[in-house]
Amino acid sequence: MAQHIDDMLSGVDLFAALPKRQLRRLVSGGREVEHTDGREVIGEGRQALGFHLILEGSAAVTTGGAPRRVLGPGDYFGEISLIDGRPRSASVVAMGDLRTFVINATAFQPLLEEPQIARRLLLVLCERLRAAEAVTTSTTSQTT
Ligand code: CMP
Repeated sequence: MAQHIDDMLSGVDLFAALPKRQLRRLVSGGREVEHTDGREVIGEGRQALGFHLILEGSAAVTTGGAPRRVLGPGDYFGEISLIDGRPRSASVVAMGDLRTFVINATAFQPLLEEPQIARRLLLVLCERLRAAEAVTTSTTSQTT
C-alpha cells in the first residue's frame, strides 16, 4: 500500500523532483481518504486542515456558489490556505467517488521550502490567476 502511494506521488508533477527519502517522509505523514459523491471536502471560509492530492475521481471547485473548475487525478487542492494562513478560498465537492491523499498542515509546511515544489505551486497559481483575469476581462468587455 505505502509503495503504491510512493509510486503515485512520484508520478505527480508537484512531487516529481523530491528525493526518495523526502517522498517517503511525505507518504508516512499523509493518509488516503475516500469521499462519497457530493461530499464537501473543503468549505469556503472554513479553517484549513490539510492539502489534498486527487488519486482517483474528480472534484468541483466553487466560489460563492459559482463553478470555477473541475479537478481530476494528479490535481490538488487546499494549498492556498496552507500558504497564506487565511480561511479556505473556495469549496471543493466530490463529483462521484473521490479518493485523495491528505497531507496535514504541519507536514505540508516544509514542502514550501523546497524550491522545485514552490515553483510548481507558483505556476499553478499563475495559471489560475490568468484564468480568473480572463473571466473578469471578458465579463468587463461584455458590459462596456
Ligand atoms: P484553499 O483556499 O486552501 O481551499 C480551497 C481550494 O480550492 C484552494 O485552496 C485551491 O486549492 C482551490 N481553488 C480555489 N480557487 C480555485 C480556482 N479558481 N481554480 C481551481 N482551484 C481553485
